[in-house]
Amino acid sequence: MEWKTAVTEMLGCKYPILQGAMERLADWKMAAAVANAGAHGTITASISGTPRKLRDDISACKEATTGAAGTFGVNLSIGICPDVEKMLEVCIEQKVPVETSVFKPDALVPMIKQGRVKWIHKAARIKDAVHAQELGPDALILVGVEGAGIKNPEQLPTMTTIIWGRRQLSVPIIAAGGIGDARGFLAALGMGAEGIMMGSAFMATQECRIADAAKEAILRLNPGNPDLRQRVLTPTLLKMPAEGAEAPAAPVDPDWSQAVSFSAGVIDRVLTVKELIEGIIGEAEKILDGWAFLKTG
Ligand SMILES: Cc1cc2nc3c(=O)[nH]c(=O)nc-3n(C[C@H](O)[C@H](O)[C@H](O)COP(=O)(O)O)c2cc1C
Repeated sequence: MEWKTAVTEMLGCKYPILQGAMERLADWKMAAAVANAGAHGTITASISGTPRKLRDDISACKEATTGAAGTFGVNLSIGICPDVEKMLEVCIEQKVPVETSVFKPDALVPMIKQGRVKWIHKAARIKDAVHAQELGPDALILVGVEGAGIKNPEQLPTMTTIIWGRRQLSVPIIAAGGIGDARGFLAALGMGAEGIMMGSAFMATQECRIADAAKEAILRLNPGNPDLRQRVLTPTLLKMPAEGAEAPAAPVDPDWSQAVSFSAGVIDRVLTVKELIEGIIGEAEKILDGWAFLKTG
């Protein structure tokens, strides 16, 4: 089956699956593994740390993905990524798609437009997505509260966000938040998304640099766990840092299983990135085949 959607057409990847940025985890090697599996990988620019290193990382990723069925881009997490304008300059020079996230992208948009790179913005609230749409993105990622990463106190569940968002937005939507298997993937498409983004599901892949013990802990977790439920549903208190402010020191060796989302409920094996992506696609095709009602009349 051909998985052609507005998102695969725009990015040029085979499958409408995107790997989310992950602070300290999703570097160019993860992005390359995802692109080589036919999906769209994301280099988290804050991991590269400097524009020069980002240029090297993009080059390494290009080299590692020559002839790949998938593609990759760069995430610029506004307020987290250092030197964000210089990082954007590198993306423009290297002609790679850019994803902005965390805070409003307005200040970067003139440069993005002038640089003519593909641009996706990630929003947690519909009103932020509606605002971003005015600025002319190629697609918008909407993340529901089930997802991992920075939480907005006004975030709604993924289903409400995507269905309601579909009514208010005209650009292609990529759904994120608690998606980790074929059923979540198909549900997102059914809700009106043209692709999905997953973060947590990639944490439990062989390629992810977290400790094996953390991966095992993720396999044991599920949304019924009171601590996980509490963590996922609690908003992050995050303020846009003042210009030139030092980033707060992160713990050296965190327990990464604590960063996983409600997708923990469907992460039950440590797979390679390729097995994860191909497994979701294969299973989705099987499910569609089994929907006999689609074939009658
Ligand atoms: C460990 C971890 C770190 C993350 N760091 C970032 C980040 O720096 N910037 C960002 O925009 N999103 C970040 N995210 C969010 C993901 O890109 C994605 O939006 C989210 O994981 C989707 O929900 P899911 O985990 O249920 O798939 C992070 C997610 C995880 C799991």
